[in-house]
Amino acid sequence: MHPATEQNESDIDERIAGLLGRMTLAEKIGQMSQINGAAGSIPEQLRDAIAAGRVGSIINEVDPATVNELQRIALRESRLGIPLLIGRDVIHGFNTIFPIPLGQAATWNPGLVKDAAAIAAHEATACGINWALAPMLDIGRDPRWGRIAETFGEDPYLISVLGTAMTAGYQGDDLAQPGAIAACAKHYAGYGATEAGRDYNTTNIPENELRNVHLPPFEAAANAGIATFMAGFSDLNGIPCTGNGFLMNQVLRDEWAFDGFVVSDWESVTQLATHGFTADDRESAERAVNAGLDMEMASTSFIDQLESLIADGKVSERTIDTAVSRILHIKFALGLFDDTGAHARQQATESDALALAHQAARESIVLLKNDNGVLPLSAENIRSVAVIGPLADAPQEQLGTWVFDGDPTLSQTPLQAIQQLADRGVEVHFAQGVATTRSHTEDGFAAAVAAAAKADVAVLFIGEEAILSGEAHCRADITLPGNQAALVNAVAATSTPVVLVVMAGRPLVLENVLNKATAIFYAWHPGTMAGPAIADLLFGNESPSGKLPVTLPKAVGQVPIYYAQKNTGRPGIPDSPINIDSISEFGQFESAGFTSFHLDTGCTPRFGFGYGLSYTRFSYSDIQVSTHTVALGDTFEISADLTNEGDREADEIVQLYIRDLVGSVTRPVRELKGFRRVRLSPGERRRISFQLHTDDLAFYGADMQRRTETGAFRAWIGGNSAAEQGIDFTVTA
Ligand code: BGC
Repeated sequence: MHPATEQNESDIDERIAGLLGRMTLAEKIGQMSQINGAAGSIPEQLRDAIAAGRVGSIINEVDPATVNELQRIALRESRLGIPLLIGRDVIHGFNTIFPIPLGQAATWNPGLVKDAAAIAAHEATACGINWALAPMLDIGRDPRWGRIAETFGEDPYLISVLGTAMTAGYQGDDLAQPGAIAACAKHYAGYGATEAGRDYNTTNIPENELRNVHLPPFEAAANAGIATFMAGFSDLNGIPCTGNGFLMNQVLRDEWAFDGFVVSDWESVTQLATHGFTADDRESAERAVNAGLDMEMASTSFIDQLESLIADGKVSERTIDTAVSRILHIKFALGLFDDTGAHARQQATESDALALAHQAARESIVLLKNDNGVLPLSAENIRSVAVIGPLADAPQEQLGTWVFDGDPTLSQTPLQAIQQLADRGVEVHFAQGVATTRSHTEDGFAAAVAAAAKADVAVLFIGEEAILSGEAHCRADITLPGNQAALVNAVAATSTPVVLVVMAGRPLVLENVLNKATAIFYAWHPGTMAGPAIADLLFGNESPSGKLPVTLPKAVGQVPIYYAQKNTGRPGIPDSPINIDSISEFGQFESAGFTSFHLDTGCTPRFGFGYGLSYTRFSYSDIQVSTHTVALGDTFEISADLTNEGDREADEIVQLYIRDLVGSVTRPVRELKGFRRVRLSPGERRRISFQLHTDDLAFYGADMQRRTETGAFRAWIGGNSAAEQGIDFTVTA
């Protein structure tokens, strides 16, 4: 957590002890309960419960006057005057919406992620919110899962860096500072491994993989002082997270020494019975609290059952005191007790927010394809642009999932931004083509084809509306929904070059439109400033710089597919020709042999992790390691030259990968260990170095202990996970 000073800390501890000494059991249990707000009103029952000290936190109340009144009741009418935590899903912005987290991850820019969270926190505090239920730190390796939109992608290291940055943005240096709010690491843990990519489904993750892949972002957040954790909905290896003592008591508290508190997910305590893990609410409350859960969200089994569970000796009062002190600690750290009603009411200026949202959207967009350098379009050479597609002018859809408080009237759409160019003499022909991404008619095709036929270029805004991703919005088929592929085909049949701008909350399979397009941008849901950001890139005001934080498959059947796979005993051969139609001609499988691949898609994705094109060309050369033999405990450096070979200034995301060639448990073929966004002028060459400590090479072995193993390693530096500049080194005892 972010305590101000040691003095402050001991002062807080004393005040907590004082309060605990005066609290009744009912008041203590009240602190452990989070109640859903009533959207701008305060029902009598809620008013009475707060006044009786039976509520610790409210979720989903954003009306400032109502929040003030709730706090007033808590501070002035309850016996002990304990303030409320006001929680909200502030996920990727508040009023001003930044790219969905998956899009923010594509910026590979922790500074920007931090600044965006700080703006969201400022905007949220203006409504009295003091607790953001973010960042989400789950591993996103299954694009069927709707919540992949909320993740920072597939890689534990990238998620750790960006999750820590988001936490710092929300919490600031000191939670008591104006504009700071508590953050929440969720969903602890393993939620992303949900079977079949279907939300809330079972997860089975061997402990070794849990520790090496799923837990590191959470550990990083705990180390960075995040105030709270949220237990996941899912069943992890037979023990649902909300009742999982291994996760909460053992790993989080005993191993990581986390001193904040853990909240459940929505009714996930009472759902323990639905899982078949407990018989009823009473047993659910018992299991959850004894496993280390401190606060119950939405359901009321703690309020209803804990007193009698204590009376029966099933739960100790000490457990309750511990939970309550953790919760009170956060309230003190936030300065809520000293709040005079005006705590942290500070709003970012709208122009700062919009400028940052514009930059974030621009940096999040990934250029996947650019044949014959069709992009950037030049306003001088292009006389007319056809703007086509259901997402060209959809102010709400470009915001993406989880935008309760997002203001669609602030949205600047691509159509609006491109129309502004009309002033410069570029004609814009707009035709939606289909009403939504899910439409099945062809009624609008003729107009779209006509618009394309009279234009120099056709830009199609396709993908998925916001509602097709997010919680409980999973898809088994992750191709373009509705009639969009047919629309692309129809437009491409004109001889006008086609540029696709795909907006979506997940990686989509684009196989049936890939070859129809001359260029493709992957824009995720870019948020409020989607339009200006896309126009900047289309017309070359800035070079694209986003890189994929997640693998784009060729077919849904490849899922899960991610770069940090294990080698297997029979690794696939990346370039072997695969064609199921002529399978008989393969004879004895001469090309791919008996290796790990699919007959129809091979073993490689369509676009790999870290991939993304630019309007300039970057080259890598002369990779070096500061010493080829590194002793355990030492720091060393891996460096390479980066050259901008083109004629445009641009950003590149330089990436460092390593492979531990032999491990006591097998290791991934590559692991991201560092990255940096670097801006180079045309012709400029710069030496890029990454410092590593041998600890950075550590992993959990079969004994579940984390250590660096001696032996041979290989490192690569480059612009994506298939980086070719490699060098060997050895770690010695
Ligand atoms: C989600 C959480 C969210 C909570 C509160 C749940 O359904 O899983 O991520 O914070 O609702 O809205």
